[in-house]
Amino acid sequence: MKELYQEIFELAAPYLAVRENRVHTEICFDYAVKLLKFYGGREEVVLPAILLHDVGWSALPEEKINMAFGPGNPDKELNRIHEVEGAKIAASILCRISFEQKDRLEICRIIETHDSGNNPSNLEEKLVKDADKLFRFNPRGFDIDNRRFKMQPQKYWEYLRDNKEQWLYTDYAKVMATEGLEKISSKFIKK
Ligand SMILES: [Fe+2]
Repeated sequence: MKELYQEIFELAAPYLAVRENRVHTEICFDYAVKLLKFYGGREEVVLPAILLHDVGWSALPEEKINMAFGPGNPDKELNRIHEVEGAKIAASILCRISFEQKDRLEICRIIETHDSGNNPSNLEEKLVKDADKLFRFNPRGFDIDNRRFKMQPQKYWEYLRDNKEQWLYTDYAKVMATEGLEKISSKFIKK
């Protein structure tokens, strides 16, 4: 990780102490790097945005976090809090680093709707959204999610398979998700 991104991650770390967000962020960062290599796009927007996208979970009381995401019927208002507060925290972190104002605003705009928005307006926003969602298709991510959602691995795997197309925007993300599902299947699903 380049020094700048390492610095952002260290500033974000105290806000990532809940919901296993540190490992979530590391895994999403790796997907963001892969997507940027494949599609191009502005690294200086995508990578800080993925490092900071979930800092807002720290603004929710711990007992409410699990009500705000996941399969079933997550509380959309609680989920919005993590986006809106996350954008504010991200802005304060980016102000501590010499960052161009227009990039800072764009990063915060992306964070503010990274879960709720379904109409990404540019490549960078699509890549951040896809990198975030790809966590679900990562074997380690699957293990974390499946344990916290308390679903049968087979059922959760089917839920992912059935939602892959609607969650992801780019073709390469869909390819990586399919590969991930194959790995998950051989690791976690009893034949
Ligand atoms: Fe996330």
